[in-house]
Amino acid sequence: YRVTWDVASAEKDGYEHFMMKEIHEQPKAIKDTLSPRLNDEGFIEIDEFNLTKKDIEGFDKVMVVACGTAYHAGLIGKFALEKFAKIPVEVDVASEFRYRDPFVTDKTLFIAVSQSGETADTLAALREAKARGARTMAITNVVGSRISREADDVYYTWAGPEIAVASTKAYITQLVAFYTIALDLGLKNGSLKEEAYHRVIQELKGFPEKAEALLQYKKDIQFLADEQFNSTSAFYIGRGIDDAVAKEGSLKLKEISYIHSESIAAGELKHGTIALIEEGTLVVALATQDHLYDKMLSGIQEVKARGAYVIAMAKEGNQEIYKTANAVITIPDTFDELTPILSVIPLQLLSYYIAVARGCDVDKPKNLAKSVTVE
Ligand code: G6P
Repeated sequence: YRVTWDVASAEKDGYEHFMMKEIHEQPKAIKDTLSPRLNDEGFIEIDEFNLTKKDIEGFDKVMVVACGTAYHAGLIGKFALEKFAKIPVEVDVASEFRYRDPFVTDKTLFIAVSQSGETADTLAALREAKARGARTMAITNVVGSRISREADDVYYTWAGPEIAVASTKAYITQLVAFYTIALDLGLKNGSLKEEAYHRVIQELKGFPEKAEALLQYKKDIQFLADEQFNSTSAFYIGRGIDDAVAKEGSLKLKEISYIHSESIAAGELKHGTIALIEEGTLVVALATQDHLYDKMLSGIQEVKARGAYVIAMAKEGNQEIYKTANAVITIPDTFDELTPILSVIPLQLLSYYIAVARGCDVDKPKNLAKSVTVE
């Protein structure tokens, strides 16, 4: 009798891949990032920040800069900050920002988002913003990383070490970071009433449980993946905040499955991309936003009329979509502003199962690195 001990699989907690393990760690990661920022009175308190009320009132703009998945978190951050703190927000990829003579002043709050805290372009962008007098903040997962050391303020996402190249749990904690920062700024600059502030915080507290509930449906997603893994091309569509989540879903798919995938704001389809929809083309359509729901239904009808196979996502309780899409993934009901924390999870799972079905090296996709420290 021999016991074989395999260190790598022990670290994976019985999961076949780190990515799957990390997807499952998301409920805990959400909690670990949120809880330390809530004080006993139920207010957000970000200990690491030295921002005074005067600092906050002095900002006339927020500039968010990042690469890859962290950039997609920034797109959600823009929605959160503009909604809750009523500050104009610009989001840019670091490799563009650093070479474009950006409009940044001493009234700018500059936020660099980086899981590793080591990405060369993001670091250079941070230095550039600092040189132009901006107040700089980092949202990062790695304590002591270069970006964390150089920024004026640091918000650590407590996702724990992320091993898989494709980011999952770090992304979700970046979203939590943005929501808490937006709520905090909103209350302090007077844009958000205390009652609304507490309502959102209360809702956020329930998210670890909601994320856990979503993971229970992974077999259904695997079923869809097993049907669609031979697709040669995929299009992700959404409107509003769903468009930002669609971009992340599409990136996840192309990163690990090598299927050509792109994301397009649903309203832009008819300006070009719809020309590429043919019999059997995979379209993943996000329709989680109440005020955009009908518009998404008609977008889905348009692509279906051209032969697309549509996997749609909506909040539970929406019936119409079952008649329109080929398959429907539902997420637990919540405020429209907060859906990204939930809606990304089935998209991660879909990419994961498609990549596995195609026999890809999920944790270490070809040509990609976990952190890009050279230009
Ligand atoms: C690489 C990784 C991505 C990541 C990006 C930014 O491309 O493969 O998963 O989103 O870098 O990394 P960062 O550590 O700055 O978040």
